[in-house]
Amino acid sequence: MPDDSGPPRHRLAPGPSDTARPGWPRSYAAAATAATALVGAAVWLSTLVHPSPVLHDLALFAHLGFLVLGFGAVLVADYFFALWVLGRTTFAEAVTNTTRLHPLIWSGLAGLLISGALLSPNLTSGITILKLGFVTALTVNGVQAMALSKRMSVLDGIPPMRLLLWGGCTSAVSQICWWGAVLIGFLNVNR
Ligand code: HEM
Repeated sequence: MPDDSGPPRHRLAPGPSDTARPGWPRSYAAAATAATALVGAAVWLSTLVHPSPVLHDLALFAHLGFLVLGFGAVLVADYFFALWVLGRTTFAEAVTNTTRLHPLIWSGLAGLLISGALLSPNLTSGITILKLGFVTALTVNGVQAMALSKRMSVLDGIPPMRLLLWGGCTSAVSQICWWGAVLIGFLNVNR
């Protein structure tokens, strides 16, 4: 008889051996560096492209669409953990469901970077630089959230306080950066 008492296994969850691999912190550091470089590349691209008004409008529409996809998925992920806090789901289920949202979050973020590069950001404006800082921070935070997610998916039983604090901080940084970027984007369009 297979033992199914542990957290549910699925294709997106890591095996216990993954977190035991000696090189895994280094691969996350490399991923965080690559993520920061991608934000830099989007900013650099934005200085090269000069979109027509029609392309600008299409890019703004896409920007809002990718915002719904990426931030929407982030909010649903946090909602699963709120359900766990309220005792409406198990911790393993919350982690599994959140892991399934990762492709949506990363696709939304990639789309925001590409469409944002076509929106001619004003790089001399302090508030726009602050927004790009939020975008960089939420991207790096997303990479370390993947490491956290791997740790959580191999847990058996009640998660230790250290991991819960790590999760709370990750969620707080994510919310601050996403809402900050949304607010500045909105202010930039409506000034
Ligand atoms: C998490 C990432 C991002 C979020 C949440 C976000 C959010 C937003 C929002 C809510 C708007 C306002 C749209 C409207 O009210 O019609 C906006 C506009 C804008 N965004 Fe972003 N954005 C992100 C990333 C980026 C990036 C990486 C760039 C540039 C490389 C960028 C450049 C712009 C520009 C230039 C506008 C103003 C467009 C205009 O003046 O017509 N955004 N953004």
